[in-house]
Amino acid sequence: MSGVWAVLVAAGRGERFGGDRPKAFAKLRGRVMLAESLERLERSDWIEAIVIVAPVEWEEPSILLAEELSAGKVSSCVPGGATRADSVRAGVAEVPDDVPVILVHDAARPLLPEAVIERVITALGDGWDGAVPALPVADTIKRAGQDGAVLETLDRSGLVTVQTPQAFASAALRSALVGDIAGVTDCAGLVEAAGGRVRIVEGDPRLLKVTTPADLALVETLLASE
Ligand code: C5P
Repeated sequence: MSGVWAVLVAAGRGERFGGDRPKAFAKLRGRVMLAESLERLERSDWIEAIVIVAPVEWEEPSILLAEELSAGKVSSCVPGGATRADSVRAGVAEVPDDVPVILVHDAARPLLPEAVIERVITALGDGWDGAVPALPVADTIKRAGQDGAVLETLDRSGLVTVQTPQAFASAALRSALVGDIAGVTDCAGLVEAAGGRVRIVEGDPRLLKVTTPADLALVETLLASE
């Protein structure tokens, strides 16, 4: 019993990805993409139970997948909402009140290393409300106007790109999810906006997010070399 529940958000439609099914059900090396992160959470020593947030009308296939994978940690499967934050809210509502830590992960990041799960969870405590994996920005970052004109070049020192899994003290995440959560793209942003203290831990390039079919091809290559 670790006291950590995972909320696996898989309810995105995947409009940029295309195809005739939600992105989480795109094929990755012969299985649906959702299988990869679900199996890794199931095997993780840090995770006690899992809530799947499925695309509307894909709850049944998600439950069948959990059964096929013998993913006994899956406690429930709920339909997602219009935005990622709405989907997180639906998933968190399924986590019992006395669970101290909630880990939120995107099904669109199938390659989930156990070491990153460990890093975000063990970084909590000492007054930290959240911990998120991040990588330094390698490229130069510019802000551009609508007409394509460069408006400014940002100082990239200290800038990072943020991934999931993200771990939170449940009370901080729950209170951040109350009220207006439109427009916030990650849970840490919600917790920060509510005044919470969020820290960065080392991310992993394998946690890349599948947005386009080309990303999926890259993940397939990485998976083959694991
Ligand atoms: O769309 P994007 O890939 O940025 O979404 C990140 C994650 O959030 C994905 O795993 C996606 O399934 C999930 N999501 C969701 N509900 C939404 C939008 C996205 O569960 N309404």
